[in-house]
Amino acid sequence: MNFELTDEQRQVRDLCRDFADRELRPNARRWDARHEYPADAVRKLGELGLLGVAVPAEWGGAGMDSVSYALAMEEISRGCASTGVTMSVNNSLYCDPLLKYGTDEQKARFLAPFARGERLGCFALTEPMSGSDASEMRTTARARGDEYVIDGAKNFITNGPQADAVLLFAMTDRAKGHKGISAFLVPTETRGLTRGKPDEKVGIRASGTCSLFFEECVVPRRFRLGEEGDGFKIAMGTLDGGRIGIAAQALGIGQAAFEEARAYAKERRAFGQEIAKLQAIQFMIADMATGLDAARLLVLRAAALKDRGQRHTAESAMAKLFASEMAERVTSTALQVHGGYGYTTDFDVERHWRDSRITEIYEGTSEIQRVVIAASVLKG
Ligand code: CAA
Repeated sequence: MNFELTDEQRQVRDLCRDFADRELRPNARRWDARHEYPADAVRKLGELGLLGVAVPAEWGGAGMDSVSYALAMEEISRGCASTGVTMSVNNSLYCDPLLKYGTDEQKARFLAPFARGERLGCFALTEPMSGSDASEMRTTARARGDEYVIDGAKNFITNGPQADAVLLFAMTDRAKGHKGISAFLVPTETRGLTRGKPDEKVGIRASGTCSLFFEECVVPRRFRLGEEGDGFKIAMGTLDGGRIGIAAQALGIGQAAFEEARAYAKERRAFGQEIAKLQAIQFMIADMATGLDAARLLVLRAAALKDRGQRHTAESAMAKLFASEMAERVTSTALQVHGGYGYTTDFDVERHWRDSRITEIYEGTSEIQRVVIAASVLKG
């Protein structure tokens, strides 16, 4: 089995690591404290090709593979988890389905400028009363001549406050259940679309999240992505890729906390020696390192399957489930290594702990990942 990265994959990882160390890590604590969206850093990600990593150059992207994307997501999230999720949503949840299902006209308008980083996309599936049970959505899109009229509300929309376009899922025929869901591209300047105030969150505070409200919001028929009724499959297939991005984000958060705990353990002295010499701390370090490596292997396997064009639903779910739960454990242990200092905002480790928590919830909770994994395992 070959675990070697290609030269291109190593280059993108090193470029992102360097960018994260220079531009993200030194600022992430301040952005978090002020709930400040890192607009300048996101613009620079676009210039580096990191907002359309796996989109071919003809549609404005960097034309790399999913393994490169996962490596980039880990490194960027290691620097700033909020910047990581902003990047992840634009790449996996917005550009990826556009590339797969968009017409050339849709790609020219809704993909290329977003992959180039000139514009930002978001993905609107979740509603106030339908999260895990995504097919229970209430938002409707009523066909009227050559257009659709959209009514409803979506919430917890990452990138919602900044987005220039929404990939929206709405019911076109409720009687058909999940087969009555369709996908639409909605520019955020469309009349009838309004945004709620940004949500106040426990972590990833520098990323934007808000509700979106649709009231008699009219889009032309040519803004529908895929056929009528394809929406649920588009959403689920898209999340198979998105979960690799979130797993890589969790990995980056865990890695950042681990590096800080390791450095602190070599500095801090207790009982006449550096605490890294104490077996209690060594066991924590060993468990953290093992969890991170195991998660990295699962993330890279899922990404490699995606690159080979193979179904990776269960593998993505396993990567996200394991990496997110590992990240919560690792960040909590890293905080413990820091003792009382870890519980203050003078150190970054408390932020990593808060940031890790959402990776067990968005793009499908840990419970939903277990449902997906069990369905696949029991089928075999
Ligand atoms: N790829 C393609 N098709 C899929 C699929 C996949 N991964 N998963 C399911 N389908 C298809 C099935 O084959 C089935 O098709 P047929 O009817 O033709 O046979 C259809 O979809 C329905 O499948 P299920 O019966 O399994 O659907 P379900 O209603 O039981 O739901 C679920 C399955 C896994 C629970 C799903 O609802 C789910 O993933 N829920 C979680 C939603 C989620 O992840 N939300 C995240 C929001 S986005 C976000 O969080 C972004 C952010 O902020 C960063």
